[in-house]
Amino acid sequence: MADFTRFFITCFVAALLSGAAAADPLVIAHRGASGYLPEHTLEAYTLAYGQGADYVEPDLVLTKDGVFICLHDIHLEGTTNVEQVFPDRKRADGSWYPIDFTLAEIKQLQVHERLSNRFPVMVSDFEVPTFEEMIQLIQGLNTTTGKNVGIYPELKGPAFHAKEGQPMEEALLAILSKYGYEGPDAMVFIQCFEMAPLKKIRFDLKSELPLIMLMGSPSMLTEKRLDDIATFANGIGPSKTLIEKDPDIVKRAHARNLAVHPYTFRADQFSKKKYRTFDDELKQFYEVYKVDGVFTDFPDQAVRFLGR
Ligand code: G3P
Ligand code: CA
Repeated sequence: MADFTRFFITCFVAALLSGAAAADPLVIAHRGASGYLPEHTLEAYTLAYGQGADYVEPDLVLTKDGVFICLHDIHLEGTTNVEQVFPDRKRADGSWYPIDFTLAEIKQLQVHERLSNRFPVMVSDFEVPTFEEMIQLIQGLNTTTGKNVGIYPELKGPAFHAKEGQPMEEALLAILSKYGYEGPDAMVFIQCFEMAPLKKIRFDLKSELPLIMLMGSPSMLTEKRLDDIATFANGIGPSKTLIEKDPDIVKRAHARNLAVHPYTFRADQFSKKKYRTFDDELKQFYEVYKVDGVFTDFPDQAVRFLGR
């Protein structure tokens, strides 16, 4: 093949690939529509779906009997009434761990709102969903609405779970495969703050599913680190602050064909010093920094901002 032809094809393929980062920006429902309903409940996921989110995020931990449940913490007391239901089951450090409870026990708990300015605490009856229940909900709604909303699961504490004798990676891929999430175009992003589990999923388990490397520290954004991340991930999930401090991050990620999905956008908690309104914050990230999606507790507001 002539050099010119090879160069042309390379440029064409590169343009196609970089188009992935330039596609319509995403609205990712952070823990469901958690600005309106207690996080990680089927009710919050349903509302997020109805509000037009592109992806709905469950954080995942494991029970004692190896079931993935949707919960942000490796402890239960932050968002459930575990202290009242199982007062004697805390560990010496004063916390109740889902990994010490069977799913049947977890299902006896009520979920409550985490933040005092949001949904009133304990006035309703929400339960901890399993990951499979969450998937069935989203896929069921996809069937009835004809939409194709994705899921954005985060492995919480894989190193902790491995130490407890319950590695998460293969179990996650098995559930995803059971529900048809396979290959690079699946409507799923797997996210994690730990690098080793993502590398295991890509290299050892040979999964082609889209992977997102979460990060809260600037040490993750050196050229060398980004080069490494680009070998196994499809994108990065930095905190908003990382981008505000160094907006060039977005370009450097895009140059490596990494999408950028910052967290977390909250209409009731944005910095009034930096932004006049929540829309101003969304505008700064979507239009000035040119991120490819945002994690938000208020999916309806991001959907409206994007004019959908
Ligand atoms: O997963 C993106 C964002 O959710 C990470 O933060 O603590 O809310 O899971 P966290
Ligand atoms: Ca998360």
